[in-house]
Amino acid sequence: METHEPESETAPRAGDKACLIRIEDLHKSFGDLHVLRGVDLEVARGESVVIIGSSGSGKSVLIKHVIGLLEPDAGCVYVEGQSVHHLDRAALSKLRQRMGMLFQYSALFDSMSVGDNVAFALRQHTGWKENRIRDRVSEVLGWVGLQGSEGKAPAELSGGMKKRVGLARALALGAEIILYDEPTTGLDPILADQINELILDLAERLHVTSVTITHDMVSAYKIADRIAMLYQGRIEEIGTPEEIQNSANPVIQQFIHGRAEGPITAM
Ligand SMILES: Nc1ncnc2c1ncn2[C@@H]1O[C@H](COP(=O)(O)OP(=O)(O)OP(=O)(O)O)[C@@H](O)[C@H]1O
Ligand SMILES: [Mg+2]
Repeated sequence: METHEPESETAPRAGDKACLIRIEDLHKSFGDLHVLRGVDLEVARGESVVIIGSSGSGKSVLIKHVIGLLEPDAGCVYVEGQSVHHLDRAALSKLRQRMGMLFQYSALFDSMSVGDNVAFALRQHTGWKENRIRDRVSEVLGWVGLQGSEGKAPAELSGGMKKRVGLARALALGAEIILYDEPTTGLDPILADQINELILDLAERLHVTSVTITHDMVSAYKIADRIAMLYQGRIEEIGTPEEIQNSANPVIQQFIHGRAEGPITAM
């Protein structure tokens, strides 16, 4: 892949085994729109980092770089010290097997049943027999409260159900790193809380490392070890839920309390 910066192919700082994902000075533009303007962010192994920020601030763009769906204009994303956009196709595919991603708009294959959507990565990557795949699909659909819906078509589902199928698909492979793009958007408060509990359970039981984008501050406080706010293309502040709640930064205060008045202006 083409690179634009003279950064090294391995993370420059050794002896930092706790850091699983490191984003360094990441820049990304689309035409004249300079979306990411030097994002720095580190996620430790086993940590749950939540990213908050206004609509259009670049949250989805940021996490798409972590699985190599977008290529940086400058800067770098390292996962376990490997620069994601320097990996060849085979190495990237191997890395992606260790990551699950819930896309913001679920991105289900409309022509496939729910069961086949969830089984997709298992069929591609595991070599498991059909009955083992079927058991796993049934298990992860159970986790998201959709047991028995294998035969349904995506078109038959509500928005919240699609979201949960997308979540089941992201979890099916048992990935160590999960990127959740708005996992609770469009869900009723009870379902949202069940999904938050599932995210916490995966972190505690399986030591999953996660990066979650959300607008829902109740979810953010519940699932985050640390919350990072993306603002004007950079991480404005990062801290524990308590530190963010007590931040003196007016940008943070305006966002977390959802006030129209403040330094963050409407588009
Ligand atoms: N592939 C693309 N081509 C052109 N512009 C893009 C592309 N992807 C994102 N953008 C633009 O980059 C900006 C950031 O988009 P992004 O989807 O990351 O926002 P977001 O923070 O996730 O917002 P939301 O909370 O609404 O999901 C937007 O202005 C969007 O239009
Ligand atoms: Mg988004």
